[in-house]
Formats: sequence, structure tokens, C-alpha cells
Amino acid sequence: MEHLSVLKNDVQKYLELKSGEVVVDATLGLGGHSLDILKKIGPKGVLMAFEQDERNLKEAQERLKDYKKQVVYLNDNFRYLKSRVIGAGHKKIDAILFDLGLSSPHVDDAERGFSFMKEGPLDMRFDQKNKLTAEIVINTYSEEALANVFYNYGEERMSRKLARAICTDRKVAPFTSTLQVAGLIERVLAVKKHGKVFNPAARIFQSIRIEVNDEMNVLKEALSQAMELLEIGGRIVIMSYHSLEDRIVKQFFKNLERPPVKSLELAVYQNFDEPIVEVLTNKPVAPTDEEIALNPRSRSAKLRAYKKIKEYVIEEEAEWKN
Ligand SMILES: C[S@@+](CC[C@H](N)C(=O)[O-])C[C@H]1O[C@@H](n2cnc3c(N)ncnc32)[C@H](O)[C@@H]1O
Repeated sequence: MEHLSVLKNDVQKYLELKSGEVVVDATLGLGGHSLDILKKIGPKGVLMAFEQDERNLKEAQERLKDYKKQVVYLNDNFRYLKSRVIGAGHKKIDAILFDLGLSSPHVDDAERGFSFMKEGPLDMRFDQKNKLTAEIVINTYSEEALANVFYNYGEERMSRKLARAICTDRKVAPFTSTLQVAGLIERVLAVKKHGKVFNPAARIFQSIRIEVNDEMNVLKEALSQAMELLEIGGRIVIMSYHSLEDRIVKQFFKNLERPPVKSLELAVYQNFDEPIVEVLTNKPVAPTDEEIALNPRSRSAKLRAYKKIKEYVIEEEAEWKN
């Protein structure tokens, strides 16, 4: 079956690739965008592709087999972007793409535990070598820690009520399956309004997934490393699929567009008075109705793109705290 990459044309438009460039695809997935990148950079170009899910990586390698010599596959988390890219022999890159979140096979395969509609184990790890699973989160986190996950990563106002219900139920027997947790969410939080049922299970599952994969911290760390690695004139394209991710991206680049702001929350930047980036997308780019009809999973996508126009150096936090 044809693999549908989200915002295919826009990704290529904002990556502005030229023959012979050095590019990173931080989220290879099934290799859809990477294939387009390889066609653009030609035989002299280099692609470094991160994918922490072994099965997706293998499938992408098969799809990209004609370009073997030009691709460095990194079966790793993009949180190690800088060290892996330098380790692969490149100090600088011309462009980088982040197409965040999960891929279709993750949702389709019940055994991975990502879907609240399919019976499966409480797993949700992108990288199955990692120790933390959804089962550990649900069965061992304190009531307060669980409520924080649902509130911070699921924007759930009734987070405490849900956390309390989980802690009560797990005293009887630990949770072992996705449908058990989905059933509890429905029992505790689903409401009927105007004849319609509103069930936040998708949002709650997403919050557990974010916790299991430490997605928010990973993204913050990687954006900063990407900005360091980019050449002046280099492009960064980020596609996010929920508001928390998009907020991190927006806030991170706002600090680089309108310096000098020293943010405690994000990395701490050089004392600069000129913008570090040029914004290529004034408004985030979203899929058209046509694309959404063809590929419903694209519906929440937001693409933001920037060009690095000035050198970017991270100060050690301790240096300016004193
Ligand atoms: C939306 S899919 C990418 C789809 C891909 N662009 C394509 O065209 O096929 C996101 C992929 O990134 C991977 N991923 C997510 N977070 C990651 C991380 N921190 N490090 C490495 N890979 C990650 C996921 O396993 C998933 O396969």
C-alpha cells in the first residue's frame, strides 16, 4: 500500500533542499519524507536518519534500499542528535526535519498498546528497549504523580478524580490491558451532552504516551541541539500533532526571533540582540481538507519552519545564574 506522508509538498518546500546537502530526518518513520529528501539532495548528498523503533527502521530501510550509500541509519532517540551527528562525521548540517509523534503502525498494532480502542498490553514505548512502560506508570505512580501526567500532558481538568479512581481500582488488582484503562476512563470521565458522548480517552492515552517516552523533554533538548548543528542559512521544519508540542516549538523559536529574552525554562542563550532565526511560516501550515479526507491522521498536523541566520551558542546555565 502507498505510504502517505503528512504535508509532503510543504515539507519539501520549506526544507529548500539543494543537491549535495547534508540533512537529518529526526523521525524516519516509514521513510516517506526521507525518500523525497534523497531525491532532492542527489547522489552527493548525505541523509542521517533517526528512528528509535526498530520495526519502522527496518521497513524504511527496505523502502530506501536504492539509496543505501547515502543514508546513515541511527536506531536511536533524537535526544542524542548532536553527539550522533558528530559521531557520524558531520559537524554541521544544512537542514533538519522533525515529524513528531507516532506512526500508523504504532496505532494499528494492538500489541504496542497505543490504542484505547484495541485490546493490548499497557506498553506505549516507541523504543521497546526502554524500561518505563504504561503499565509501570499506571500501577506504580503515586496518585499525585498520575494526576500531574493527566493534567500536564492531557490538559485534563478532572485529573485528580481519574488518578484517585485508578489508585482505588489497582488495590484490587493491577491494570494489565489497554481496554481496562479505557473502560475506567469512560466510567469516570465520559459525559453526555446534547445526546453526544464526550470521552477523553484519546487525550488521556496521549498523556500516558508522552510520559512513557518523555516526549516534551526530548523535544526541548533536540531543538536546541538542532539549532547548534545547523549551518547559517540552514532550515529546520517541525511538524507537531498536538497543542503541547506546538507550544514548545512556538515558545522555543519566539526566544530566538525576539531576543534578548533569558528564559529559565528553556535552554539559556547567548546574550544576543539580533534574531537568530528567520521565520518561514508566519502562521503554522495545516493540511487541506482534501489531504485530511485522504489521510485522517493528518488532521491535527501543524508545520512550522525557520531558517538560521545567526550563530547560536548555548551558555551553561550556571554561568549566568551567578
Ligand atoms: C509521524 S512518524 C514519522 C513518519 C515519517 N516522516 C514518514 O514519512 O514515514 C514519527 C516517527 O518518529 C519516531 N520517533 C518519535 N519520537 C522519536 C525520538 N525521540 N527519536 C527517534 N525517533 C522518534 C516514531 O517511532 C515514528 O516512527
